[in-house]
Amino acid sequence: MAQNLDALRLALQHSPDNAPLLMLYAEGCLEEGLIEDATKSYQRVLNVDPMHTEARLGVARAALLSGKTSEAAVRAEQILSDTPDCGAACLLLARIHITEGDLPKAKALYDQGLTLNRSLADPGIEKDLHGVKAAGDSGADKKRAAITSSGSYQESTVTDSDDDNHPRGGAAFDLGLADFEKPKLNFDSVGGMEAVKEQIRMKIIYPLQHAELFKAYDKKVGGGVLLYGPPGCGKTLISKATAGEIKANFIALGLHQILDMWIGNSEKNMHEVFELARQNAPSILFFDEVDALAADRRDLRQSAGRNLINAFLSEMDGAECDNEGVLIIGATNAPWHIDPAFRRPGRFDRTLFVPPPDEPGRASIIDVIAKNKPITELDPRALAKKCENFSGADLKAVFDLATEEVLNQAMRTGKVIPLTTKDLIKAAATHKPTTKAWFESAKNYAMYSNQGGFYDDVLKYLGLIKR
Ligand SMILES: Nc1ncnc2c1ncn2[C@@H]1O[C@H](COP(=O)(O)OP(=O)(O)O)[C@@H](O)[C@H]1O
Ligand SMILES: [Mg+2]
Repeated sequence: MAQNLDALRLALQHSPDNAPLLMLYAEGCLEEGLIEDATKSYQRVLNVDPMHTEARLGVARAALLSGKTSEAAVRAEQILSDTPDCGAACLLLARIHITEGDLPKAKALYDQGLTLNRSLADPGIEKDLHGVKAAGDSGADKKRAAITSSGSYQESTVTDSDDDNHPRGGAAFDLGLADFEKPKLNFDSVGGMEAVKEQIRMKIIYPLQHAELFKAYDKKVGGGVLLYGPPGCGKTLISKATAGEIKANFIALGLHQILDMWIGNSEKNMHEVFELARQNAPSILFFDEVDALAADRRDLRQSAGRNLINAFLSEMDGAECDNEGVLIIGATNAPWHIDPAFRRPGRFDRTLFVPPPDEPGRASIIDVIAKNKPITELDPRALAKKCENFSGADLKAVFDLATEEVLNQAMRTGKVIPLTTKDLIKAAATHKPTTKAWFESAKNYAMYSNQGGFYDDVLKYLGLIKR
């Protein structure tokens, strides 16, 4: 292939704007892992023909390959909204959902893609989705319709209607929000993370609980906190638990709600989400994978996206309404994509690094995960020792792997066989920790664009500056 690439490169020197050549070259680069070169070639095709579907798909694919999942999702969704019959975009989105662990949604998109184009069948995706049932509402169009419709409140859309924790009001459901509740989770449900919990107490809980004190000094309570760190280390979990800890309402917007608003060009919905949070104060408004919204990617910020970002920023500034008692938490794995405008005073002006758990932290997480599972003689510390660099999500994967193994045996014998520490250690040996790759990217940003000491905590963690 490398030879082929050389030949193509030569050909391109003679005919630099030849779209088919550029596409061939880009495809070849992707296969060789030359992601930046691939992106550049696709971009050159797009310079001439901005709506070139294959080239747009290529850029999205390259983003996914370089770990920019939310960027890949934004791009794939845009392609699908411009070209609803593009099966390849469905498959790419399916793959993105698999990366994000949302298998039912991935299955729905995969099925949709195949309906559009049978020949796209992908054994790799099928293997990942084996036995998964499609999510009922996950057709992208359907979801967009749900978000833009102003239908009335429907009790039946509340899945766990047995508790009365849901504040009244249909807007949340019309908006298709991932989460709107008073979480039962609290800090006890989160293993380890002691330093982060302490920071959250100081920066979030204490101010909300002593609002009068702050008022006396004419300081506002609320505002924004940005959590960042490698994937799977508990950012989403601790945010939800924080709301539970202070018995605040928790309104969560996941990546897809953000993307849907973006693509649906619906700043109005953004306003409604903030209104909902204000009406239900004290509340935590949680933007998961906020980089999808706050991305410093000028190409994406033109047109529709721009309006939504402006709407978000002005809601956050409380320009028109008072955000008293509304705390906004954003979480991101890719803080380097966050536009500095989002970090100005009054916006996400406080940041918290959520590192991978240390050994005692891992032992506590193992304790939390092991609850309600048939396990004999669990030795969390022995297992934690064998799981260096593992995130909380990695530890959960270890339990899943070991459980699968034991289930196979159980099915053969027809008896429940409890998990042992040995099974878990064996499973851990087969699992590759996911946090290392993150630090490779983070290190570059931390060393070369550490404006205002934003990444000091990362550098401390890596031992590159003193604690
Ligand atoms: N500290 C923790 N205690 C218990 N479980 C954890 C912890 N951190 C992560 N997990 C597990 O990993 C999963 C993914 O964590 P999540 O909060 O979504 O990570 P992030 O948002 O940082 O990517 C959680 O749903 C939980 O099962
Ligand atoms: Mg998360």
